Order: sequence, then structure tokens, then C-alpha cells
Amino acid sequence: MRRPRFITFEGIDGSGKSTQSRRFADHLRGQGQDVILTREPGGSPGAEEIRQLVLTGDPDRWSAETEILLFTASRRDHLEKTIEPALASGQTVISDRFADSTRVYQGATRGDLRNMVDQLHTLMIGREPDLTFIIDMDPATALERGLARKSGEDRFEEFGLPFQETLRHGFLALAHAHPKRCVLIDGNRTADQIASEIAAHA
Ligand code: ADP
Ligand code: TYD
Repeated sequence: MRRPRFITFEGIDGSGKSTQSRRFADHLRGQGQDVILTREPGGSPGAEEIRQLVLTGDPDRWSAETEILLFTASRRDHLEKTIEPALASGQTVISDRFADSTRVYQGATRGDLRNMVDQLHTLMIGREPDLTFIIDMDPATALERGLARKSGEDRFEEFGLPFQETLRHGFLALAHAHPKRCVLIDGNRTADQIASEIAAHA
């Protein structure tokens, strides 16, 4: 049996990660794979509670340093309760966001906190995905799409366009730094075009 894979989708808010992670999960299931689709922050009951804390309220509710702790706490619970048990039972895991989001959102937007993010990751998470799709797209279009949803979880979208542009550069830098694990996907196309490019990596 093929070793179950841990696959993540990353990118700025509204770039199409949820759409494409759902479509890729359906595609792999259609090939007979047992797949769980999960997300961060969240993906386990405890981590979903932390999600509410970090995604709602004023943009300046938490400092970047406090966010690093909250996102890492939620990731640890997600890993223990959902990701590791699923991989151990032979399921492929697809997660809409994982540690790359902390590297970029907390590590590279409000000062250079990347070293702090990396140290905590090594100490508490210590695991990388087998494959990461980074969906790159125009931040203005992505922000319009994201805010149009009115999800009530817009704390990061409310930081505005320059913040999303900084994020975009952060994700591009990650993709270049980890070319074996990361596949850069042009998100400025129809959902069907993007899905068929991603499906080629099944
Ligand atoms: P994310 O999870 O990255 O925030 P979503 O998949 O939720 O992104 O997409 C954000 C919004 O944009 C949704 O309303 C979705 O239907 C729409 N959308 C997703 N992909 C595309 C695309 N390729 N072209 C146009 N709209 C899209
Ligand atoms: P998500 O629900 O994927 O939002 P969107 O659909 O808008 O992309 O993620 C919620 C927000 O949490 C998103 O703005 C990114 C942020 N986030 C971080 O800042 N750090 C993290 O480690 C993670 C996982 C998410």
C-alpha cells in the first residue's frame, strides 16, 4: 500500500484554498483513496475553540507573539487528535493551511518573528507536510472575494491590502525556499483550470 500522504494548501485569504482542497479531496477519493479534509486553525474540537479566539474581534486584539502561541497550541491539538491518528490508520490528510501560514502571517508581517515561529515549531510540532500547494494570486481580487463572504472571521482581512501584499511575498519566498515540498499554483484562473493542474499531482 502507498504510504498515506500529508498534503497542505496555503496562500493569502480568499485565494481559493478551501475550494481547491475540497476538489482535490474529491479527486483522490474518486481514485479510491481514503481521504480526510481538515483545516487550520481548527480541525479538532479544542483547536476549533482556539479558532474563535484568533479570528474574531479587533485586528489588534492579540500581538503577533501571542498569536504564535495560540496558533501553535491549536496546531498541536490538531496534530495529536486528527492528523497523526488519520495518517496512522492509512488515510491521506489534506489540510487547508498548516505551519506555513504561521511562518508567513505571524513570522513576516509585523516585524521579523520568523526565528521565534521556527523555534516553537521545532519544539512543539516537528512535522512538515509531504506536499504543499501554494496558491498565488492578486491580493486585491483575493481580498474582495474573501470579504464578500462576510464570514465573521475576518480579523486578518481587516488588516487591509498592504498586509495581504506582504503575505503574498512571504508565501512566494517560502515556495522558492522549499522547492521539493512546495508547488506554486497560479490562482488567477478559473477553479476548473486550477483543479486540473493540481489533480496532476495526485
Ligand atoms: P480561501 O479558502 O483561500 O479563502 P475560497 O476557496 O473560500 O478561498 O474562495 C474564496 C471565494 O472565491 C469563494 O466565494 C469561492 O467560491 C471563490 N472562488 C474560489 N476559487 C475561485 C476562482 N478560481 N475564480 C473565481 N472565484 C473563486
Ligand atoms: P482561513 O479560514 O483559511 O481563512 P481564509 O479563508 O480567509 O483564507 O484562515 C483563517 C485566518 O487565520 C487567515 O486569515 C489566516 C490566519 N492564520 C494565521 O494567521 N496563522 C496561522 O497559523 C493560520 C493557520 C491561519
